[in-house]
Amino acid sequence: MNNTDCIICLEHVDTRFGGQVIHHDLNLCVHRGEILALVGGSGSGKTTLLREMIGLQAPTAGCVTVDGQQLAQSDAYTQQCLRERCGVLFQGGALFSALNVFDNVALPLRELDLLDQSLIAQLVCHKLAMVGLDTAVAHRMPSELSGGMVKRVGLARALALEPEFLFLDEPTSGLDPVAGQQFVELIRQLHRELGFTVVLVTHDLDTMVDLADRIAVLADQHIVALGRLNEVIARDHPFVHDFFGGTRGQRALAAQEAR
Ligand SMILES: Nc1ncnc2c1ncn2[C@@H]1O[C@H](COP(=O)(O)OP(=O)(O)OP(=O)(O)O)[C@@H](O)[C@H]1O
Ligand SMILES: [Mg+2]
Repeated sequence: MNNTDCIICLEHVDTRFGGQVIHHDLNLCVHRGEILALVGGSGSGKTTLLREMIGLQAPTAGCVTVDGQQLAQSDAYTQQCLRERCGVLFQGGALFSALNVFDNVALPLRELDLLDQSLIAQLVCHKLAMVGLDTAVAHRMPSELSGGMVKRVGLARALALEPEFLFLDEPTSGLDPVAGQQFVELIRQLHRELGFTVVLVTHDLDTMVDLADRIAVLADQHIVALGRLNEVIARDHPFVHDFFGGTRGQRALAAQEAR
């Protein structure tokens, strides 16, 4: 499992909240530069797993290694350095409602405490342009944005520190099909240009098919299928049957072949 391609490695991970077992003996390897989609039922523990990969939460047992460093055994400084290499678009955008767009995107840059105000302003404008937003939105509050704009601002903030790892939790949920497709295109283009490693949680089959190099299926507290779409669809498991079953799976395969 610990091959050189494996940039994020989860080994024998257990997660429990009180008496509730979320993950048990979960193993997963994310390859450098890939887009890995993580799918699973609601409440199966996808967001929790992302939080463990970023070091925002420690598993109850087992080991999470990022670029060769074991998170649990790293000191606070090393963990902070690793976190600065991660960009996260949280489920729902998670913008600070009391801060305008500019201040939301500037937040990780200010926390670095290394850059002067004019450089921060330039970087914020650059990040907004990268996600297709006009600088005119910089002074709007989150409540004055559409759902698609909230996702873009969240992505601009995730990109602020030029991350090597991008974690996207349900990036297209709540968007209409056109806005969802535009957002998928944006992620694909940024991935091509910047080459980061992406872990993408999604319920949306189209988003998954359009973006993912590999798919990991979380069910029964561990990863029950991992691989390319055709390999995952071939797995005999009830969740895989429900998620990819019948014409849905066939359409997804046809769409991927057409890509
Ligand atoms: N800090 C916490 N304390 C207690 N229980 C928690 C905590 N965080 C998550 N859980 C529980 O863990 C389970 C998995 O939650 P998680 O948010 O990871 O699921 P998910 O797969 O992301 O679901 P969804 O698809 O709905 O976003 C849920 O039952 C949730 O209530
Ligand atoms: Mg979630």
